[in-house]
Amino acid sequence: MNQPSPLASWNGEVMPLSEVRVSVLDRAFLFGDAIYEALRVYEGRPFLLDEHMARLRRSLDQIRIETDVDHISRRILELLERQPVRDGLIYLQVTRGEAPRTHYFPANPTEPNELIYVSPLEDDPHAEHRKTGVGVVTFDDLRWKRCDIKSVNLLGNCLAAQAAREAGCAEAILVSADGTITEGSHTSLFGVRDGAVMTAPLARNILPGITRNLVVQLANRADIPIREEPLSRDRLPEVDELFLTGTTAEVLPVTRVDDRPVGSGQPGKVTCQIAAAYRGYVADWLAGDASPSS
Ligand code: PDD
Repeated sequence: MNQPSPLASWNGEVMPLSEVRVSVLDRAFLFGDAIYEALRVYEGRPFLLDEHMARLRRSLDQIRIETDVDHISRRILELLERQPVRDGLIYLQVTRGEAPRTHYFPANPTEPNELIYVSPLEDDPHAEHRKTGVGVVTFDDLRWKRCDIKSVNLLGNCLAAQAAREAGCAEAILVSADGTITEGSHTSLFGVRDGAVMTAPLARNILPGITRNLVVQLANRADIPIREEPLSRDRLPEVDELFLTGTTAEVLPVTRVDDRPVGSGQPGKVTCQIAAAYRGYVADWLAGDASPSS
């Protein structure tokens, strides 16, 4: 039997996702001229909603799509009321809208198009991976120079993720021309060396991951030393542990890179400590007593 189509909010109108229609002249279709966000739903509640909305606002500002995002959080909550999902994922996208095709922005400002939908995450593909760890491949970072903007231009990310899949791995970690590792195709990357956690500093070459930010705070609270400095491909053999973070990945141990074991080849001690802190944080938030900035 076919699954019923999830509900979507299309410019504020709630309808089955399968019934949403968009013009081929929408600039997201023609140019990838759009911003997106992906949020996790735990027990029917959107996790780190304000943080995702702040990043959305910043991304929209950076590419000069003029829209007010305040109504978007309301629409997310309305959608979750109409379609209760216990564990799920919210996808949302704002495009510059529909206009005759010109590279420059349309002369008459267009009305942005806004899509939000929620899908259940029944069989979380990473549930087992979080215990066993995953393998990753290295892949050239082919992306543009503003990876801090969460735009839907994801071809470099898609090619990397496909290379990982073809190698039987969960993720690709992206290597710049100078040998620096930026992040994963859809995750942030952390290393652990001599008990200290390292991750690339926030700059234009990585996405400011919401989970990355939470993990930095959790490490600080646990007195785990954290250094925001780039990892490099040459120095990968020196790291004791590696892990990925992201809205869907949460905290995911990496046990192999290009078929070479990381450290002992098992999920590392600090990684497991951070993963437990993340789960504890979500549990506290669900119980009503956690705030990311506290
Ligand atoms: N990806 N880096 C990249 C390139 C990403 O696409 C993502 C998220 C992350 C992790 O960010 P966050 O912790 O805010 O989820 C890092 C989402 C999940 C996606 O593309 O579906």
